[in-house]
Amino acid sequence: MTPTSSDSAINGGIERTLVLVKPDGVRRSLVGEIINRIEAKGYKIAELKMLSADRGILEAHYAEHKGKPFYEPLLEFMLSGPIVALIAEGQRVIEGFRSLAGATDPTVAAPGTIRGDLARDQGTKVVQNLVHGSDSAESAEREIKIFFPNL
Ligand code: RTP
Ligand code: MG
Repeated sequence: MTPTSSDSAINGGIERTLVLVKPDGVRRSLVGEIINRIEAKGYKIAELKMLSADRGILEAHYAEHKGKPFYEPLLEFMLSGPIVALIAEGQRVIEGFRSLAGATDPTVAAPGTIRGDLARDQGTKVVQNLVHGSDSAESAEREIKIFFPNL
């Protein structure tokens, strides 16, 4: 069937976002729970892999935070164990996944969100909040290239 303008109004605007399940999420066996929330919301998992990030990847990924007091502890935390990187796809998924993840600080992240339901302050040097999600279309494309360079 030839697509019509109304089809494209319904199906268009598909975005991609980079989601990371951080080492705390993998250690606590929350990978399935987190992926389930993304899929239950209706987004598609387009790519998925587990990896141990090296410092170079993390320096590229977190370049905007270089020099901040939490930068070194953040890198150390992200190097502390395997992570899962995935690309989620769907209309407004960048904003939608940030909403699923909840506020950066898990103590005040709203109940119902990944961070609000499943994470809390552990007294560590950097807040451990289970997931990363790209914060804009530009960040998403940049971050996807870092973690999935062959796409
Ligand atoms: P993310 O990038 O991981 O999705 O989280 P976010 O946008 O909510 O937070 P962002 O400001 O980009 O910070 C990146 C990660 O650094 C750690 N962080 N710790 N004051 C702190 O202790 C602090 N601030 C940021 C968190 O792991 C945060 O997710
Ligand atoms: Mg961020």
